[in-house]
Amino acid sequence: MLEPTIVVTRRWPAPVEKELVRRYRSVRLNQDDVPLGPDELKAALRDADVVLPTVSDRIPAELFTGKIRARFLGNFGVGFDHIDVAAAARAGIVVSNTPGVLTEATADTAMTLLLMAARRAGEGEREVRSGHWTGWRPTHLMGADVSGKIIGILGMGRIGSAVARRAHFGFGMSVVYYDRGKTVADHGVTDAVRLDSVEEVLRTADFVSLHMPGGRGNARLIDAPRLREMKPSAFLINTARGDVVDQDALADALRDRTIAGAGLDVYEGEPAVPRKLRDLENVVLLPHLGSATLETRTAMSLQVLDNLEDFLEGRRPWSRVV
Ligand code: DGY
Repeated sequence: MLEPTIVVTRRWPAPVEKELVRRYRSVRLNQDDVPLGPDELKAALRDADVVLPTVSDRIPAELFTGKIRARFLGNFGVGFDHIDVAAAARAGIVVSNTPGVLTEATADTAMTLLLMAARRAGEGEREVRSGHWTGWRPTHLMGADVSGKIIGILGMGRIGSAVARRAHFGFGMSVVYYDRGKTVADHGVTDAVRLDSVEEVLRTADFVSLHMPGGRGNARLIDAPRLREMKPSAFLINTARGDVVDQDALADALRDRTIAGAGLDVYEGEPAVPRKLRDLENVVLLPHLGSATLETRTAMSLQVLDNLEDFLEGRRPWSRVV
């Protein structure tokens, strides 16, 4: 493909957008950075050779029907549950993602949420900003220690392992985990204990951190009965995908203190966040910041460019999904 027409669905770090435009003649950037609707995405698939989407672009099977010109979808992000990749493959489209480069930044976000939830940092920040802080006192905003506690990792892949290392070596926590896969790559915490089920991790851990993919296989994995398995003093941390948790059940569990608190970076149906969650003090809410550092977002966009170059030059993209 000599002169591909390329659609980029959101703004990227400026130097990488510049590089994309330098390399290819026909690039359509989304100058206003407004999410594309289904009709615009459908038009992009119909009219462009290459579409470079992100997690904010929902691309279900019906968008791959009819006349499609697109041959390559280079997703900006590791998670690709927003794209029906089986339908893309049936339409003859190659899909790639950006694993690896965002592991450390996302693990940092999980630890940020864990510490903020444990130490009631969101409540404290709101108190200071609103002018309601009345000064130091021995019983003010007492949180929970992190050091010496047990972290339970559900999904011991790249990001789960990076969180386990931070928790263990940085904060003196013991690690238990569950992973559906038979083999787990070396996670670097030699005394981490693999448990036999999600429930066992929920029952054992003081902090449960979710690191599995979103989509059908894990939808509502953490539901009301599973939340009841957790200790009343425990915290749930989610930097994976919103649909892994039943948000309604979580709000109930936080309100009636079935669990002590939560830290969330992702939501089902983003950017909407249920009022039931926003009204609670014992949950820290971040706006899907997992990989949001300049270095990481730059590395992600460069990885999309590498995948694109592989595809256009007839090689298998390094991180091809289908
Ligand atoms: C990812 O890479 O999956 C992040 O959630 C942002 O898309």
